Amino acid sequence: MANPRGTTVINGTFHSPKTQHSKWQSTDGVKNGIPKEAQQNRKPRFSDKPIFESYPEPPLYVLVLTYMGYGIGTLFGYLRDFMRSWGIEKCNAAVEREEQKDFVPLYQDFENFYKRNLYMRIRDSWNQTVCSVPGPHIDIMEKVSDDYNWTFRHTGKVIKDVINMGSYNYLGLAVKYDESMKTVKDTLEKYGVGVASTRHEMGTLDKHKELEELMAKFLNVEAVMTFGMGFATNAMNIPILVGKGCLILSDELNHTSIILGARLSGATIRPFKHNNVQSLEKLLRESIINGQPRTGRAWKKILILVEGIYSMEGSIVNLPQIVALKKKYKAYLYIDEAHSIGATGPNGQGVRDFFGLAPEDVDVYMGTFTKSFAASGGYIAGKKELVDYVRVHSHSATYATSMSPVIAEQIIRSLKIIMGEDEKHGGLQRIQQLTRNIKYFRQRLIEMGFIIYGNDHSPIIPVLLYMPAKVSAFGRHLLKKKIGVVVVGFPATALAEGRARFCLSSAHTREMLDKVLEVVDKLGDLLNVKYFPYKKSGHPALYNEKSFDKEASFDEMSIEPEA
Ligand SMILES: Cc1ncc(COP(=O)(O)O)c(C=O)c1O
Repeated sequence: MANPRGTTVINGTFHSPKTQHSKWQSTDGVKNGIPKEAQQNRKPRFSDKPIFESYPEPPLYVLVLTYMGYGIGTLFGYLRDFMRSWGIEKCNAAVEREEQKDFVPLYQDFENFYKRNLYMRIRDSWNQTVCSVPGPHIDIMEKVSDDYNWTFRHTGKVIKDVINMGSYNYLGLAVKYDESMKTVKDTLEKYGVGVASTRHEMGTLDKHKELEELMAKFLNVEAVMTFGMGFATNAMNIPILVGKGCLILSDELNHTSIILGARLSGATIRPFKHNNVQSLEKLLRESIINGQPRTGRAWKKILILVEGIYSMEGSIVNLPQIVALKKKYKAYLYIDEAHSIGATGPNGQGVRDFFGLAPEDVDVYMGTFTKSFAASGGYIAGKKELVDYVRVHSHSATYATSMSPVIAEQIIRSLKIIMGEDEKHGGLQRIQQLTRNIKYFRQRLIEMGFIIYGNDHSPIIPVLLYMPAKVSAFGRHLLKKKIGVVVVGFPATALAEGRARFCLSSAHTREMLDKVLEVVDKLGDLLNVKYFPYKKSGHPALYNEKSFDKEASFDEMSIEPEA
């Protein structure tokens, strides 16, 4: 189906006759945002078909009603807070203690107000207790509230065989024990579970070495170091790569672990608009021209931080253009492939593989084993000298216990399946099945008239619902029909961009997807949330190339007048 939306990005470049890359072609040998060197290294692309990514805007009345809903909820919130303060209504929320009344208030900021008065009304749509493996079906423990969502209790019943559209089990490798996991069982018997030491002391096992060598082979890089926790891989390693006097340019929608790592590093942080190469280039130029604040000295290092797939937007990083920029401005690029590794690219090697770029095009690869690999932990990968440096300096290597050998073996098992070394379990077929499922599910949702965000190849599909009451009703109704989906609202999204997030897996069969689509279709009519099609972008920053075109590019600014 042709993309019926008003504004699109195609193959990571703006689909407009007059865009920035036409300028680049003449100045830099850059084609489609990819410099000459990168093009020479470029393997045949996974998809030379157009890739669409778009963020349609809802009709105005939807936004007006959404803000009105928040407004009314807020007014009632103030009224109820007033009644609580006079003891007319019982307050179940945490309150300042009388004897601490002279301390800085803990519970009076907007977030607490929001939680107490707005989130509490719809809280039952979150925090489900799952009591099974996160496969294509899950079992959920039924819960009820006797006090309007302040507390919950389990009824003792289990809602069986709920179709799981919320886990990051992209390749369907999260399964109960079967014979394919025998090596994991053997590892448990041989090594036990815990390592009880850090990598620098007694915690480096042959299993870690085996995993790191296999992972390096899979990623096609010189070396890899693994860590016990994905979150800590970002939070603990970004600070060893940059520090004071360095500049971090970070996508505004980066994961909290990246933000924490960036803050801990002490480097100057400047966010750029989500996946927007114009915004990134503008920042790069300004930062290089102005240098460090006050002194004007050149930055020691400039590090660009991005993710492969963004889990709230379903967008895929515009890697070819970002690689071109980092080469042009001599910056470093760090990419977090938590959601893309295993799930994206013809060989599951992530977004670099997806775009057919060379391994050296990215300086630091980071990823987690919690999604496609059905395990836990994270990795840093790249050149040997980088990984050697990380081995010595990482806080995670010095002060944190190493990955459990059982987990390491589960990752090795998953890797062998993905790499085709374990033919019985069809790694390539899983990747291809996932691609088919994504395409089918996205297309059907668009045809039904939902507004969905993100890239055509993203396994995460956000369906925009906007109003918090509808967000919650969507989650509740689906669960009644035995479909589990994650719904998301403020503060995890912008105030007026509440949504449901469908996460696809290769383990979903066509029957499962059809059942979900049938229910979602009816529910969309019932809740009146089919807001598509509308022309303008809901993320104008992404598409507002005009303002950027007006400015001279870095090349033009630095051209010497001819004698
Ligand atoms: C982009 C990104 N990076 C890092 C993490 C943290 O990884 P983990 O959950 O494996 O600790 C996540 C978690 O979802 C993530 O989405």
